Order: sequence, then C-alpha cells, then structure tokens
Amino acid sequence: MTLPTLIPASKLPNVGTTIFAIMSGLANEHDAVNLSQGFPDFLCSEKLIELVSRAMRDGKNQYAPMPGDPILRQRISQKVEKLYNLNIDPNSEITITAGGTQALFTALGAFVHPGDEVIIIEPAYDSYKPSIELFGGKAIPYALMAPDYEINWAELEKLISPATRILMFNNPQNPTGQVFSANDIAALRQIIIKHNLLLISDEVYEHLTFDGLQHESVLKYPDLYERSMVIFSFGKTYHNTGWKIGYCIAPAELTKEFRKVHQFNVFSANTPVQSAYADFMLDENEYLKLPNFYQTKRDYLLQSMHGSAFKPLVCKGSYFQLFDYSNISDMNDVEFCKWLIINHGVAAIPLSVFYTNPPDDRVIRLCFAKKEHTLRMAADRLKDIILM
Ligand SMILES: Cc1ncc(COP(=O)(O)O)c(C=O)c1O
Repeated sequence: MTLPTLIPASKLPNVGTTIFAIMSGLANEHDAVNLSQGFPDFLCSEKLIELVSRAMRDGKNQYAPMPGDPILRQRISQKVEKLYNLNIDPNSEITITAGGTQALFTALGAFVHPGDEVIIIEPAYDSYKPSIELFGGKAIPYALMAPDYEINWAELEKLISPATRILMFNNPQNPTGQVFSANDIAALRQIIIKHNLLLISDEVYEHLTFDGLQHESVLKYPDLYERSMVIFSFGKTYHNTGWKIGYCIAPAELTKEFRKVHQFNVFSANTPVQSAYADFMLDENEYLKLPNFYQTKRDYLLQSMHGSAFKPLVCKGSYFQLFDYSNISDMNDVEFCKWLIINHGVAAIPLSVFYTNPPDDRVIRLCFAKKEHTLRMAADRLKDIILM
C-alpha cells in the first residue's frame, strides 16, 4: 500500500535548480572566470553608496509608501517625459518594486486567470514561463532563431487563440542581444490592438543599445501604452543588481490592479535605496553614458576574442554577447558549457535553457558587464581552444 504523501503535488513540476546556480557553482568549484550570470563585477558609483548611507542615517529605514517613494516616482515621470515624450502621473501610473522580476511576477499575478494563454518570445528570461504557470496560465512560446533572432510577426500572430490574454515582449532582448526596431513596434502595436491583448514590456536594458541604435520604448506609443505594463530595473542601470529595485509604469486602471497584488506580495520596496536613487537620478549623465560604456565593453570582448574559433553573433544591445562554437565541438550546449568550465576555466550559459523547445544550435551566452581584466582573462582562455 502506498501511503498518501504529506507534500502536495508541485505547482512547478518541470522547474529544477536554475542553470545560473549550476554554472556558478561549477565555476566556483573550478575557479573559472564567470561570465555566466548577468551582473557587473565592478563597483557601482561611490556617490550612490554614500546617498544610501546618508538616507539610512537620516532615518529612512521604515516602510516606504506602498507605491514607492513619491520623490522617486516624480523623478521617473520626469525622465520618461524627457526620453520618451510621454506625460505620466507619478501617483497613479508608477509603482516601485523589488526589482524587475517582482514587477513581472506581479503584473502576471494581476491579470493571468487559470487557462489564459500568454505569448512569450524565446529564448526568454527564465522567470517568464514559471510565473505564468504559477497563476494557472499557459505560456505559448514563439521561437527566435539564430543567427538573426528576428520576429516574423505574421507567424507570431498565428499563435494567438481566443484564450490569449497577454503578450510578453523584451527589448533590448536577453539573451540574444537583439534590439527590436520601430518596424517591430509597429507590428506589435497592430497585433495588440487587433486582438485586444495586454502587453508586458520588459525594458530593463533600456539604456543598453549600441552603434547609434535608439531604444524603441513602448512608452513612445501612447495607444500601445494604454494596454501595457512597462517594466524597468535600477539594478541594470546603476550597476547594483543586488539592491533589487525596479518599477512598473502602466495606465492608472492597470496600475490599480497591479498594486492590489503588489501590496500583498512585497507591500513596499527598500526605503533608503529608493531615496538614494531619487537623488542620483538628477544627474542624467549617469544613464546617458551607458550605451557608450557598455559598447566599449562589448567591443573589448570582441577584439579580445578576435582570431578564436568562436564565431560572434550580432549584439545590438543588452550586456550579453552570443558565440557560435560549432567550429569547436558537436557537444550539446549544456555539456559544452560544463566542459568549458572544467577544461578551460570559463563559465558561460547555454542558449538552449532559454527555450521550451530548443533548436539544435551550438550557441553560448557570455556576459560582458565585467572589468576589462575579467574579459581579457576569459578571452585568453577561450582563444586557446582550437578548431575541431
Ligand atoms: C530580461 C530581464 N528581465 C528582468 C530581469 C530582472 O531584473 P531585476 O534584477 O531587477 O529583477 C532581468 C535580469 O537579468 C532580465 O534579464
């Protein structure tokens, strides 16, 4: 006789330990240069650290208002007006969150009902699918394909069914480094309006576009914004991903629902850090310099890898660079990444883990949000690997 188990069935039966934990664990074990996870290995601004300390000393240590520090929200609305020419009400359209991931989770929690379908564009940030599933929804993947990772909008539209409620869009895109154009946004806009969908637009890499490309924020398109929740992350902008502060911009009606979930999810985000960001945002140069800052790092990595057997794919934005290793090995990408750590001391992320149905590609992702010394060390090791 089998005894009834005390533990109810898993709500996420297909989710295991994330590849990031696995690769970082293996990287530590083998003392590898870690270009796997997406975070800087350099310090954030000393001034910002000082502002947080000052906020703490000034007694800003208790709960922030549920929607976020009012001055921070005001500064965000000024930034949005300046960059995207959209006038938003800081009181009813901006909510400060504990990072972009929480904002994504809360947006899905507010609107996904059991049985709803949510279209995601893969390879996708790994929180999307499990978050949809936790709320009883079904993720419907559209697969971007190497080497261009372009969207065929007519094909994507075929995935829409009477159960489709939401489309999730990420621009600039992790992990591909793709930056979608004004033409893409025009196609997206047409689909969202025609099928009466909600849009969750993940723009955490808004400042990381290269070679003169402009970020096409959904906030630039008022009739698209009307149906959107747009997600940002201070951690990505100010080099402190561990501080976990982000925000969601959405029209008042959507924000009202978003906050119903937010208030019982985290209630409010870290007070002194919000206060510090509010002051730090006054210097717009801190974010305007980012395209150049990260483009220099991308180019440094590419130059350092020049002459290696790895083939770089086009990186237009984000802080990830893809490399094709088909000239080196037939191994699948997960095995290849483990082999890279153990035999060559460099940790990368296999692209297949970002897909529901991975194509049979030989592509890995490297994060270049690192010091030049780190990038050089990784490239020197990778250049030692010769053609098959
Ligand atoms: C596409 C994308 N969205 C959201 C996030 C999460 O942002 P945060 O660190 O603020 O939670 C990340 C972080 O890697 C990301 O790559």
